[in-house]
Amino acid sequence: MSRRKLIAANWKMNKTVAEATAFVPALRAAVARLAGIDLAIFPSFFCVRALADALAGTSVAVGAQDLHWEPNGAFTGEVSGAMLTDAGATMVIVGHSERRHVMGESDEIVARKLAAALRARLAPILCVGELLSERDAGNEKAVVERQLASAFQGVAEEMAARVVVAYEPVWAIGTGRTAQPDDAEAMHGAVRSWLSAHVGAEAVSMRILYGGSVNAGNAAGLIARENVDGFLVGGASLDPASFVAIAEAASG
Ligand code: PGA
Repeated sequence: MSRRKLIAANWKMNKTVAEATAFVPALRAAVARLAGIDLAIFPSFFCVRALADALAGTSVAVGAQDLHWEPNGAFTGEVSGAMLTDAGATMVIVGHSERRHVMGESDEIVARKLAAALRARLAPILCVGELLSERDAGNEKAVVERQLASAFQGVAEEMAARVVVAYEPVWAIGTGRTAQPDDAEAMHGAVRSWLSAHVGAEAVSMRILYGGSVNAGNAAGLIARENVDGFLVGGASLDPASFVAIAEAASG
């Protein structure tokens, strides 16, 4: 089964509108050259509209880093799925480890957000991953399976197939400590087995990204593994040359 590689940039709380749109020429040049892969950019809410407009007509997707689970209402400071599609987003990250562990989002909240993203017809990237203490205790697979079970509960198979899963071990995010290709592949294989058993036959075509200190130097070794279908890149996605170098490594 050949799955198109997806290289996604999670810009977190970085870049103004001017800084975000300054990235566009490099992205346009990259997609013209790298025909076989998909690119997606996740800027702050505030940059979604400008970036979606600047990338219109290209295959580069623009998404948001989070959404609220309700379609509207008295939720001060929150943004709904419909607002994101209205601004030009086609994707959204759900359950990033910084939302789970810094902002305190539970598995239940992540599940509600995943359902809301699918209802809004956004393509979600569902992030899962264990803490270092959980890995040290040998519980990494159990933690990731618990996160998957909670998020996919009640999601119909044809909807579930639209989800991209990102395995991001928390100890590898922003630390410079990347998972070894063997460890990443072991978990990606486990995620695919879980999806086959619980989502169904569509699991074979679902993309599973790796995230956590990906850079131009380690990308080729990771992407060579069977179940690594792309990357969710934080720090190394902030500079166009470094992001494009990762996309090049992934396009082989
Ligand atoms: P990093 O972040 O590449 O800076 O480790 C990845 C992520 O948080 O998605």
